[in-house]
Amino acid sequence: MRIGHFVPVVALFALGLALLRPAQAADQPEDRAIADSLAAMLRAGRTVISANQARINDPALGPKGLDGKTVLAAALAGFTKATGADPLASDPASRGGKLLRAEMDAIVAVMDAAQSDIDTQGVGFKGFIPAVFGRLVSEEFGKRAGGLAHMKVTAPIDRVRNRASRPDPFEAKVIGAQFLAPGWTRGAAFAATVTQNGGEVFRVMAPEYYAPSCLACHGGPKGSIDVTGYPREGFAEGDLGGVISISLFH
Ligand code: HEC
Repeated sequence: MRIGHFVPVVALFALGLALLRPAQAADQPEDRAIADSLAAMLRAGRTVISANQARINDPALGPKGLDGKTVLAAALAGFTKATGADPLASDPASRGGKLLRAEMDAIVAVMDAAQSDIDTQGVGFKGFIPAVFGRLVSEEFGKRAGGLAHMKVTAPIDRVRNRASRPDPFEAKVIGAQFLAPGWTRGAAFAATVTQNGGEVFRVMAPEYYAPSCLACHGGPKGSIDVTGYPREGFAEGDLGGVISISLFH
């Protein structure tokens, strides 16, 4: 009885995954390269915020000089260091070049809009952290991407802090069936071509794991309140922290 009940569930689940048509990088090399560069730019930008976090949080400091142009320049340098490629060398007329520039513009817009908050003297923690930067840049990028792409940082549904970052059904499925499954190659991205709203979408999800620096907020004691006002989740170094999720529309 038990087994009879179990099998159809497994079969349905397997069918669902088969419909995802997992794509190797080679299937869509151009799309995959575009998605990888968009993710690398987001990481490079967050790294700049992270490197300046102590200054951003310093109540004694006024202007921090973290305007859009300055942060973008540092992000471009970080991108080149991480990937070996110069983002400005991409053809601005190509799909990838347009999207990467849309993301650069998003970084500038987010930082310029955050100036008065970041530069406020007399306030310590201002809530401007890499995760918030990443969410705002993704939102701004979406507005500038001309319907060609969508980017977001999401996480397993049981550990999402901001409701706006909850995983969609595809993301929830990949997180559960791939990234959290035993045997998934740590750090490996998942790519698939799917049909969404009648159109083909190339989706890439890149997992990210908690580092020691994340645990001040996402570590323990579980339930205690961190500096941002959220309860700590009690996670450990190396646990899946989230996913950069990129969709390219055709
Ligand atoms: C200062 C506290 C703090 C630190 C340190 C921190 N986070 Fe977060 N994290 C937050 C907050 C607050 C949010 C919600 C941001 C928002 O409003 O979108 C968040 C959101 C996220 C999200 C997006 C999904 C969600 O839950 O909304 C991911 C993924 C994430 N953090 C992973 C990490 C990783 C990985 C690190 C270390 C590299 C890290 N965080 C370090 C506080 C922190």
